[in-house]
Amino acid sequence: MNAILRMSDTKNFFEIGTGRGKQVMHACMIPEMEEIVTLDVYNFNEKRRTPVNGVYGNYSNLDLYNMFNHSEKEKIKYMHVDSFDSVDYKKRFGVVFIDGDHHNENVIYNDFLMSMEVLKPQGYIVFDDYNHPNLTAPKNVVNRVKEEYPEFEYTLIEHRGHIFNHQPKHVNEGMVIIKVK
Ligand SMILES: C[S@@+](CC[C@H](N)C(=O)[O-])C[C@H]1O[C@@H](n2cnc3c(N)ncnc32)[C@H](O)[C@@H]1O
Repeated sequence: MNAILRMSDTKNFFEIGTGRGKQVMHACMIPEMEEIVTLDVYNFNEKRRTPVNGVYGNYSNLDLYNMFNHSEKEKIKYMHVDSFDSVDYKKRFGVVFIDGDHHNENVIYNDFLMSMEVLKPQGYIVFDDYNHPNLTAPKNVVNRVKEEYPEFEYTLIEHRGHIFNHQPKHVNEGMVIIKVK
């Protein structure tokens, strides 16, 4: 994802699905990056079971944020999904990463529609987990978008298996980058 951010040359990144905040923490370290907004169904200070240094405990994203000792983190704005209003961020972001709900096609499709509102002209929308063996919804939504917007450019990045795990490449599976036109 960071390679995509660097390639796009954007200063504004929007993510749906914060998780543990790993991606936004990587993104904030890109010097050119100025603003990052990330949404989750969990509140910033809501604790959940998650590992830190390989040991499970109850941590909120606020706890993880406090452990991250880089002032660049101030570029990140963590928001609950219900308090986000796309009207406040119209055409603001050069890259949007859709990585929230992975099961409900209506939710993921609505994430796409919201992404279109906050995306700058000529920006990129990225979906994770296309053709994941245990998930059908992300693939179905990407295929629906492809049918509805044939004028966009679609690139599948097959990044699973071989890059970090020294396993065979997972073919026809990975991230889809959509260049919106
Ligand atoms: C795979 S994790 C995200 C990982 C993160 N993007 C990263 O790369 O570091 C998915 C997250 O999406 C959140 N999520 C689930 N449904 C969501 C929704 N409708 N809107 C926003 N976030 C959602 C989950 O709570 C979970 O934290």
